[in-house]
Amino acid sequence: MAKSKSKRIGIFTAGGDCPGLNAAIRGVAKAARRKYGIEVIGIYDGFQGLIENRWRALDWDDLSGILTIGGTMLRTSRTKPHAYQLPGGETIDMTAQAYENYRSLGLDCLVILGGGGTQRNALRLVEAGCNVITLPKTIDNDIAGTDVCFGYDTAVTIGTEAIDRLHSTADSHKRIMVLELMGNKSGWLALGAGVAGGADAILIPEIPFDIEVVADSIRDRDRQGKRFSIVAVAEGAEPRGGFADDEEYEHAGEGHHVGTRVGRRLEVLTELEARVTILGYVQRGGSPTPADRLLATKLGTASADLLAEGTYNVMVASRGEGWKALPLEDVAGERRTVPLDHAWVRAARLIGTSFGDE
Ligand code: F6P
Repeated sequence: MAKSKSKRIGIFTAGGDCPGLNAAIRGVAKAARRKYGIEVIGIYDGFQGLIENRWRALDWDDLSGILTIGGTMLRTSRTKPHAYQLPGGETIDMTAQAYENYRSLGLDCLVILGGGGTQRNALRLVEAGCNVITLPKTIDNDIAGTDVCFGYDTAVTIGTEAIDRLHSTADSHKRIMVLELMGNKSGWLALGAGVAGGADAILIPEIPFDIEVVADSIRDRDRQGKRFSIVAVAEGAEPRGGFADDEEYEHAGEGHHVGTRVGRRLEVLTELEARVTILGYVQRGGSPTPADRLLATKLGTASADLLAEGTYNVMVASRGEGWKALPLEDVAGERRTVPLDHAWVRAARLIGTSFGDE
């Protein structure tokens, strides 16, 4: 106990922001200070602030009133320590500088809140000599080892609400409505929002689609007298064989958004009017849902326990109602994709949702 009281840690957020980061910062810092007497300093702008030595001590006032606030009070960047960008655009490896600053700040550990790329970059700091604990955040929900990432539930909620709202305008105009959701190379976000919102077709990277199959399912609905169809498309979804060699898709280009391409092709194939919504960064903004606040608080406070006992170089994964510390090296570089037999996929198929594959 006496030993843990003298500890000093740094905390930062890296990669794309998401709702729940402030809740997690609050969980880490309040529990670390209150229960274990650990001094907490906040490092600004992710790995960039560590390299440039920009930080300040976090006191109680900093940690009040932030639970419900979106974004990150510590701000973030996509800077990678091994590929730090100089003003001219050239990149250099600043991992040694990051380690040097960690040492000169007298830190016992860095708590790093980030997504898949951040887990890899955090491991690089471990290899350079830093102690690290990471927390899994991302709206993409694609980090290996954890049941779920914070930020995901909020983004699914926003995506679901968008689908709910598209229903009434789709029905009024008798249209196909295509909604493109984020998610990077995984389909969790489109799948979650698609199932929760009752989308008629859900297209995800894990299940390459045939646009003719999607069009067939929409024609079927039209024949049944349904006035609209909603298609939820993950930004990483691709047709079988990819877009590259398909001239039809080339003509439907427009910024190369998969949503736009799918919408234009469906309009041609079904002769029904289609409209496209690219939901974009709305999915990353605003206040976290209660589920994300709970998750971020659970994982944040769990990391304080690990800091106190000196368990380092792990990611704090959510497991059921509890959590588990996983070796960072087992997690970094792994992507959690949607299993083809996932219960949500099966449930959606059973109620007639098309994934564009059968
Ligand atoms: O990883 C979160 C995410 O929002 C992805 O869904 C998306 O592909 C990407 O970040 C967008 O990145 P940026 O904020 O750099 O535009």
